Amino acid sequence: MKLGRLNHVGVATPDLSAAIAFHRDVLGATRISQPVEMPEQGVRLCFVDTPNGGTQIELIEPLGDNSPIHGFLARNPAGGQHHLCYEVPDIGAAREWFQGQGKRILGPTRIGAHGTPIFFLHPRDMGGILTEIMESPVHA
Ligand code: CO
Repeated sequence: MKLGRLNHVGVATPDLSAAIAFHRDVLGATRISQPVEMPEQGVRLCFVDTPNGGTQIELIEPLGDNSPIHGFLARNPAGGQHHLCYEVPDIGAAREWFQGQGKRILGPTRIGAHGTPIFFLHPRDMGGILTEIMESPVHA
């Protein structure tokens, strides 16, 4: 295992439109993607570019009654930092590595918001941080 790029920091919000306005009007973000809905994950999200070499902020709003974000917002009503996402070159090898380390993986590997495979690691095994592992996009 070799630590890859920090792809994004996930930030949960009860109001995506308000979070977009905050990043645009207060923080001066100039590139914010159009919101997309991922009903099977129970989220509506968009990405805010930062000057950090492609590292983004992922703004996440709950979508639907069964969204996993509801629990987080119940504990953090104003929203807050939800997860970190690191890139790896090979998602299968990374999954095997973390399993071999005894780290709990939350659910199957699936396609994430950037169109590459991802999985999540339990925060209790990751220094208190819900951690998303993402296969690096292939840059043409
Ligand atoms: Co994410």
